[in-house]
Amino acid sequence: MELDVYQRIKTVVKTNLGIDLEHYKDEQMRRRLDSWLVRSGMSSWDDYFARIKVDKDELLKFRNYLTINVTEFYRDTERWKHLQNIVFPMILKDAGPRGLRVWSAGCSIGAEPFTLGMILEELTPTRKHYILGTDLDKGAIARAMSGGAFITEEIRGLSPAQRANYLRPGGPPFYVVESLIKKITFREQNMISDTFEKDFDLIVCRNVVIYFTSETKDMLYRKFTGALRKGGILFIGGTEIIPHPQDFGLKSVGISFYQKI
Ligand SMILES: C[S@@+](CC[C@H](N)C(=O)[O-])C[C@H]1O[C@@H](n2cnc3c(N)ncnc32)[C@H](O)[C@@H]1O
Repeated sequence: MELDVYQRIKTVVKTNLGIDLEHYKDEQMRRRLDSWLVRSGMSSWDDYFARIKVDKDELLKFRNYLTINVTEFYRDTERWKHLQNIVFPMILKDAGPRGLRVWSAGCSIGAEPFTLGMILEELTPTRKHYILGTDLDKGAIARAMSGGAFITEEIRGLSPAQRANYLRPGGPPFYVVESLIKKITFREQNMISDTFEKDFDLIVCRNVVIYFTSETKDMLYRKFTGALRKGGILFIGGTEIIPHPQDFGLKSVGISFYQKI
């Protein structure tokens, strides 16, 4: 794709979808856009833009594609088991009798905050915690708030007991039960431009920053540290790493886990 075409797409996407592609890795995004145009069957971006002006459904699909909503319950089971068996007991002990403040940033259609809700219910059945799930994508948040729908691949990490306890009967597609939805506060939020709540014990931000430039990534790690309480934990994706965590006021406490110093 020519650079001037990419510049135009960036402007249209920013104006119509509120997404600033400046923060996303250039080459990767250009490749994705090229393949989207081929898949759409249109011969030029001009034709495609004319189409999304009148076809709101297509506009939403385009937005979903750009924001990449891929997710599943217990994505990277090993890391989630570490969270459940090592990290949560530690931060629960530090919290004493008060409930935890936990945030899934870039939560897509909710599998991640729902996983957090299940784990915390299993670990502390009688305690109340604040669990926040946010995403830039309005459609994804609306789906999360209605409890799904999830496809079979997205729930494969759940045990038979968890399926029985937390999913409504029937499916596919699968929906989580109302009592689990009620445990989560869902909100639309752009993590790049919006302000963050503070004093979190745990922030989970996985498989989101991989799409961002290194400057944007660094800016976000600083913002996340600012939103953690001292001793709070940042849980990042399996393919991500923070090479110099001390630059952000963090220290490594296991693969994918960083603690605010
Ligand atoms: C690949 S999904 C990851 C979902 C989940 N964290 C997981 O690992 O399963 C990436 C999500 O990040 C969201 N996202 C992308 N840019 C964002 C931004 N600037 N602010 C908030 N969410 C964003 C997308 O809408 C998408 O739902």
